[in-house]
Amino acid sequence: MTQDELKTLVGQAALKYVVPGEVIGVGTGSTVNKFIDALATIKDQIKGAVSSSVASTQRLQALGIPVLDANEVDELAVYVDGADEIDGRGYMIKGGGAALTREKIVAALSRQFVCIVDESKVVSSLGKFPLPVEVIPMAAQRIARQFDAMGAHAVLRTVEGQPLVTDNGQHILDVHGLSIDEPLAFEQQVNQWAGVVTVGVFANQRAHVALVGTASGVKALNFG
Ligand code: A5P
Repeated sequence: MTQDELKTLVGQAALKYVVPGEVIGVGTGSTVNKFIDALATIKDQIKGAVSSSVASTQRLQALGIPVLDANEVDELAVYVDGADEIDGRGYMIKGGGAALTREKIVAALSRQFVCIVDESKVVSSLGKFPLPVEVIPMAAQRIARQFDAMGAHAVLRTVEGQPLVTDNGQHILDVHGLSIDEPLAFEQQVNQWAGVVTVGVFANQRAHVALVGTASGVKALNFG
């Protein structure tokens, strides 16, 4: 099975976590796009979605799924999103698609985080995937030096030679060479640095369930 087929498989498998009559939280990325496509087939059963990015909002709306503002809901039953890495405790690295801040906000609103990934994303320890960190532009170089001091290397994400600008008007640093053994402590530490908007470690907002696409089908991992 190709990686794309595995993404389709887990995108469809996530439908069984959708609570009828409720608003669903929707993440961002190529795996979530498969989920959005599957969600369109049961759109009459849900009130709508809270989206974590402009890209997901556009895809949801194009398929006729109403998108609500996050401030219109007190809580969401379920949030479905992908990840760049997920470990055996449900801790994740996210932000490869630059949507980490809104993803963390929607995850925080949700009672259950259902992570959909193909098996290449499952790791024993976080950090091989360069860690995305959304930063206020004027703080980028100072924050990069703070990562350098930890023995890592931060690179400003660019598109066609220009700094990438997120949906929130900020920049992204991709941090190479980290080994994140204590995700909760790491997230808390980096969150406190001046100018950090969001660190792409999802430990406070970890996954409760992972649906992992493998050659032999979808494997569900429950993290409690
Ligand atoms: C978006 O910012 C990310 O957090 C995505 O959830 C993550 O990059 C996974 O994306 P893919 O499903 O495209 O691999």
